[in-house]
Amino acid sequence: MSKLWAKKGSKINTIIEAYTVNEDYLLDNQLMPYDIQATKAHAKGLESIGILTKEELKKIISRLGALEKLWKSGKVKIKVTDEDCHTVIENFLSGKLRTTGKKIHTGRSRNDQVLTAIRLYMKDNLKKIKKEAKKVAKHFLEFAIEHQNVPMPGYTHTQQAMLSSVGHYFCAYFESLIDDISFLDAVHSQIDSNPLGSAAGYGTSLLLDRELTTKELKFKNIQINSLYCQNSRGKFESLYLEALSQIMFSLSRFANDLILFTSQEFDFFKVKNTLVTGSSIMPQKRNLDGMEILRGKTHIVTSNQSLIKDICKNLISGYHRDLQLIKKPLFESTEIVLQSLDIADLYLKGIKPKEKSIAKKISHEIYMADLATDLAKQKKIPFRTAYKQAHKKIAKYKPDPKENIKSKISLGAPGNLDIHYYKSRLRKI
Ligand code: ARG
Repeated sequence: MSKLWAKKGSKINTIIEAYTVNEDYLLDNQLMPYDIQATKAHAKGLESIGILTKEELKKIISRLGALEKLWKSGKVKIKVTDEDCHTVIENFLSGKLRTTGKKIHTGRSRNDQVLTAIRLYMKDNLKKIKKEAKKVAKHFLEFAIEHQNVPMPGYTHTQQAMLSSVGHYFCAYFESLIDDISFLDAVHSQIDSNPLGSAAGYGTSLLLDRELTTKELKFKNIQINSLYCQNSRGKFESLYLEALSQIMFSLSRFANDLILFTSQEFDFFKVKNTLVTGSSIMPQKRNLDGMEILRGKTHIVTSNQSLIKDICKNLISGYHRDLQLIKKPLFESTEIVLQSLDIADLYLKGIKPKEKSIAKKISHEIYMADLATDLAKQKKIPFRTAYKQAHKKIAKYKPDPKENIKSKISLGAPGNLDIHYYKSRLRKI
């Protein structure tokens, strides 16, 4: 298809074309539905200021609907020679609608088109991720409630520290994810402003109906300064990636723990056969590759955020083609987070604590801090003095592990998990 910027009698060098387009024509399949949606809004805006007639608008909207169907069924494809989805849309409209179709680019640039499409993509995916994350969080909480009183060592420095419980661990994963969900909302609200109408970054002499397009596209705000609209490309994506990284931090903490706690040395959890892989040479192996890949992919998401920041941090104000390179890490990270939430959920459904096996691993010294606290309380002596006496008294100190858990009554400790509060947080998000 012809380029929107093609000049008569000159053709771009095919090597330069392939290099600059690279895989963008494939990546733009992710943006196509959003760009169609934004193009419909732009067309409505043009009609409201008299650039398009009602009849022309109707034709454009219907052609855009047809394009979406054809693209979904694979009958319309974005090709290298198209460069991007924006070109496909415009050429499709001007192909059949001729003059009417050619009017669509009045008052807009591919620069604000891509910004708008990406922003709609991010908003949509933040919602999808939130829904998935909420489901997984709920399952963490259910697991915590079901195994609330199963004692399990708590560690610092990978050394046994104090007695914890399965409920305590899983409430920690839950609360972490719930915080991440609040952060998804915060990012959603921060990026919820409409850049459409900023054109190439410097506005236009038309009094575009930016309020109308904002309403049409369900943005909360209008992003006002047309140059800032351009300058926010990459800035908003890096915020989005921060929200995604937070989710990966939570999930990879769970993955890491599970990998360690299912090793022979620990043997704290039973894992369903369908969730483990084997070895080609060692018949006994039951590996948690899913959790390992999730842990590894966390690095991809965090480095994608750095990549996005690096791409845009030293650019002067305004659009640059470099910004195109932000799409790949953005889309890749979204896919990773959505898949990882599913994977974490599968493991969550396929594991069970092995209470007896865990009990065998609880060292007697794990109660030292509790003993010192008890001594300080009973004898009304300074904790530091009790701490020194604990070594001598530990041999005779034999608490029941379940009672010990119950005795940890400080808010958020194993004996006071505050499940009611968690349930209400879950309901509110
Ligand atoms: N593929 C381009 C991008 O993602 C679309 C915008 C092109 N704009 C331009 N002025 N060349 O940035």
